[in-house]
Amino acid sequence: MENKVKIRWVDETDSTQEELRRHFLEYDNLSVTAARFQTAGRGQRGNKWTSERGENLTFSMLIRFGEGGFPPLPVSRQFAMTKAATLGIVSYLAGKGVEATIKWPNDIYVRDKKICGMLVENVLEGDKVAVSFVGIGLNMNQREFDSSLLNPTSLSLATGLRYDLESELEILASILAASFARVLGAGNPFAGDERYESLLYRKGEFHEYVDCSDGTVFEGEILGVTPEGRLRVINKEGERKEFAFKEINFII
Ligand code: BTN
Repeated sequence: MENKVKIRWVDETDSTQEELRRHFLEYDNLSVTAARFQTAGRGQRGNKWTSERGENLTFSMLIRFGEGGFPPLPVSRQFAMTKAATLGIVSYLAGKGVEATIKWPNDIYVRDKKICGMLVENVLEGDKVAVSFVGIGLNMNQREFDSSLLNPTSLSLATGLRYDLESELEILASILAASFARVLGAGNPFAGDERYESLLYRKGEFHEYVDCSDGTVFEGEILGVTPEGRLRVINKEGERKEFAFKEINFII
């Protein structure tokens, strides 16, 4: 399958996730909808995603399965979407000379700061993923951020350069398409696992985390992720635990 990416730019929309949903029946696998400004950008956990007009990349990529798309993906393997997308972003940043890590499950960090967030929304049909909307917000040229944001950074802050968004998105979208092809098209459910784990932020070091089940703070070391994408952590007492998204918070 060819990884040709069609990119459609809009000046302004509510959210590229919604814009893509409104049109996805007409669009091919790997199509991208990008916006210069989102009036209602969405983040994880019901948060807003804010981004200065025309300064950053805010886009969504359509991933299809079955005819005209990737081989069927069982729901139990849907973490593959996160793996493919995060690995693609890290590769793109490496190409810009920036070493990034993956703060589980899908934030991209440069040192202790977040440069990119993503929202993977899968539409399920029975026990398979039918279609997926992969929304990505990558801070490119913005150098000042709202003080309410925890620890944002941008490519421009990392390198001192400014970037042309349209040509950068061409590069990034084709890297992402290749990453999806590698992870989803290989017929190997473990494709990308090792690389994903090796890139985990704070892997192999002890740091403080909050166990959201009871609010306790503990010192733990990230060991890796399960095939379903749960975070594997060992505490100072040698107890191993697995956490799903929203069950653990990083203290940064
Ligand atoms: C997060 O880290 O909270 C996820 C942020 C995802 C933001 C992107 S920007 C493009 C796409 N459209 C949205 O409304 N959200 C995603």
